[in-house]
Formats: sequence, structure tokens, C-alpha cells
Amino acid sequence: MDAIALLKADHKTVETLFRKFEQAGRNARKLKRKLVDQMVRELAIHSVIEEQVFYPSVRTRAEALEEDVLEALEEHHVVKWLLKELENLPAEAERFEAKVKVLMENVRTHVKEEERVLLPQVRKAFSPGELKDMAEALMLAKKASPTRPHPRAPDTPPGNLMAGAMSAVLDMGKDALRAARRKVAKKKRTTPGTSRNVRHAGNGSAREMATESSFLM
Ligand SMILES: [Fe+2]
Ligand SMILES: [Fe+2]
Repeated sequence: MDAIALLKADHKTVETLFRKFEQAGRNARKLKRKLVDQMVRELAIHSVIEEQVFYPSVRTRAEALEEDVLEALEEHHVVKWLLKELENLPAEAERFEAKVKVLMENVRTHVKEEERVLLPQVRKAFSPGELKDMAEALMLAKKASPTRPHPRAPDTPPGNLMAGAMSAVLDMGKDALRAARRKVAKKKRTTPGTSRNVRHAGNGSAREMATESSFLM
């Protein structure tokens, strides 16, 4: 697989999540929240690997594409703010659906430009071997990427490389914390005779969520 195929595969993954969201029933709030969690993760990782590996390579090799890359970085920036706001927004919130719609519109426009303008030019500017090497670099960046959006972090080298590494470690901790809490909450719900625990879990969860949201700021 070369870099172009890898990036297009990422775009397809995100589009599949968008379609699932659009097809979900009006009241399928739990499913919609889960899909948004997946969108946040996929888009956070995809934007970082493009910013760390793909865009800098394009800027170095093809000066004519400089303006397109700068525009792409600004589009990423807007999307990251939307993702940040959606990260902890309950599906019941009045603006949840509207915010997801605006996210999808922004991402679809950005992907269309990348696939119609940028990627065909990149195919001409790099050799097949270089595009394969770039795919390997993208895959490595994926493994070390932050999993959450960081709109205030630098998005060009060398600042984004250092900030990305630090954010990745912090995000890993937050993801593990959230997974552990979900596991505990599920166990409490399914253990018989724990109605008191469930009530306490409700209060505790609110406290924990407050703690977590301050940790996430
Ligand atoms: Fe992009
Ligand atoms: Fe992309």
C-alpha cells in the first residue's frame, strides 16, 4: 500500500462512520455518541499523521502545492475545534446533531479537495517507491499519534512532532481511564442486588466526569 492508498482508506473509514450516523434513528443517542467517539479518534489520528508526515513532504517536494497545503492546515484547524467541542458533548445536547452535521460538511469538503486536487498532484511529484516509504512513515506516525484533538497544539514541524509525542502519552492515559470507568459502570449495572451501588455509581460517575472533564481541559 502506498501513502495515497493509505490516506484514501482513512477517508473511507470516516465516511462510513458519517453514513452510519446519518442512517441512525433520531433517538439512537447511545449509538450516535459511540459513532462520534469513533469519528473523534479517527479524525484526530488522521489529521496528525498528515501534519507530521504527508504535508511537510509535499511542501518540501512540490512548491506549487504550498497554498493547497496551507489551506488544508486551516481546514484541519477548524475541524479540530469541532472535534474538541464534540469530544464530551452529550448526545442529548441541543446542538449535538447540528455540530456533527457541520463537522461532516467540513470534513467532506476537505476530503474532496484532497482527493481531487492534492493527491493526483502528489502522485505526479513522488515516485512509487517514495510513496511506499511515505506509507511506512504514516503507519509509524499512526502508532505514536495522539488519539484526541488538540487544536491549540502546533501543526507544523518541528513543534508538532514534540507536542504530538506528549499529547499521545496523555491521550493514552485518558483513553485507559475512560475504558476502565465504562467497565466498572457496566459491572455495577449487571451485578444483581447492587441497586444501592447503582445509585452511588450515578453520583460517583457525575463526580468522576467532572474530575475527568477538568483533566481533559
Ligand atoms: Fe487532511
Ligand atoms: Fe486526509
